[in-house]
Amino acid sequence: MGAQPYYGPDFGLLQSQDPEIAQVLLDELDRERDGLQLIASENFTSPAVLAALGSTLTNKYAEGYPGRRYYGGCEVVDRAEQLAIERARRLFGAEHANVQPHSGATANLAAYAALLQPGDTMLAMALPHGGHLTHGSKVNFSGRWFDVVSYGVRRDSELIDYDEVRDLALRHQPKLIVCGATAYPRLIDYGAFRGIADEVGAWLLADVAHPIGLMAGGAIPSAVPYADVVTFTTHKALRGPRGGAILCTGELARKIDRAVFPFIQGGPLMHVVAAKAVAFAEALRPEFAGYTRRVVANAQTLTDALAAEGMRPVSGGTDTHLALIDLRDVGVSGAEAERRCAEAGITLNRNVIPYDPEPAAVTSGIRVGTPCVTTQGMGPQELKEVGTLLTLAVRHPGSAAEVRERVSALLAIHRPYLSEY
Ligand SMILES: Cc1ncc(COP(=O)(O)O)c(C=O)c1O
Repeated sequence: MGAQPYYGPDFGLLQSQDPEIAQVLLDELDRERDGLQLIASENFTSPAVLAALGSTLTNKYAEGYPGRRYYGGCEVVDRAEQLAIERARRLFGAEHANVQPHSGATANLAAYAALLQPGDTMLAMALPHGGHLTHGSKVNFSGRWFDVVSYGVRRDSELIDYDEVRDLALRHQPKLIVCGATAYPRLIDYGAFRGIADEVGAWLLADVAHPIGLMAGGAIPSAVPYADVVTFTTHKALRGPRGGAILCTGELARKIDRAVFPFIQGGPLMHVVAAKAVAFAEALRPEFAGYTRRVVANAQTLTDALAAEGMRPVSGGTDTHLALIDLRDVGVSGAEAERRCAEAGITLNRNVIPYDPEPAAVTSGIRVGTPCVTTQGMGPQELKEVGTLLTLAVRHPGSAAEVRERVSALLAIHRPYLSEY
């Protein structure tokens, strides 16, 4: 090794060796910088996280766990995983952490594998009411391999119907109750779920893929004290690399570890595990708490701004980083709104709303979230403008050029990967 130690990532090398892929990287960076990113499940991870992801740790096979690997030469990557585990436990106050799941879906697969046998009954939130595919959808392994009973939200309040959850639990005696959602803007009462699970002798799994970042920063109450197992993703409000993780009680530690490896995965992605460690350390800093409070305040400002323009927020508002907007009174489908916003430089996703008369490909709603714009440094002033621009784009497709210009003006000040994290 010369005076300049080889680190790894070298964009110039990629450009000369593979200009086509180098161009993809450049174009994606431009896309992320040149539009408003309102997808609730996305964020701009830090340059330090990106550095860990683009490292030689990707080369290493490390089946097993720190100190108990099935390959030689793991003593260095062991340190990365040990740090990730310790930081996750500290961040969330958990007895045990497994940082190897490749994604949120595989974290759920591992949790089910640890707690259930095929054919067992589980109770989870219905996909059309905000649940996730892995919570028992028929097109997913969870719906095919388990006997799934679904709960939803009330038609009047659009809030989880805890009486219905309890009634279904008493009637069906599930072995596992899953709480957590992918499109639910309100706080979930994990204590209520714990009580119901205890009443019927079920395990409680909290899939907090979405709000885990807010829990890490203390902006909303944590599910960890209530659930036997907590699954989450590291790439949403938590602002880490794309991936999953599991927290659990000491009692379930061995079962969870064996479910992740060797049951559902082989070698862990050690570069991603290292990047998770970096993100957990960032989330342990006091600044991250401020970030998560601003994410929620921004979501509330945006939701209020949209409501003032006649764009109805499902359940009347939000307590988190996301809102679900019912567009039926506007007379525009979710799919059309998504398209109109894209044309105006605003990226968001269509989303079914509870009791949606439209199919999932069309939908009556859109979902918006504030993790990205908050990372970019936007505050209440900017979020009011975002609400105005989004409304203009959805209601008046002819205004796309004007909206694009005003989006550019916002982004000229709040450009990702230029300002401080
Ligand atoms: C509640 C919930 N669980 C699981 C997942 C799956 O995560 P991944 O896409 O990493 O598999 C998501 C993703 O959005 C989610 O919202």
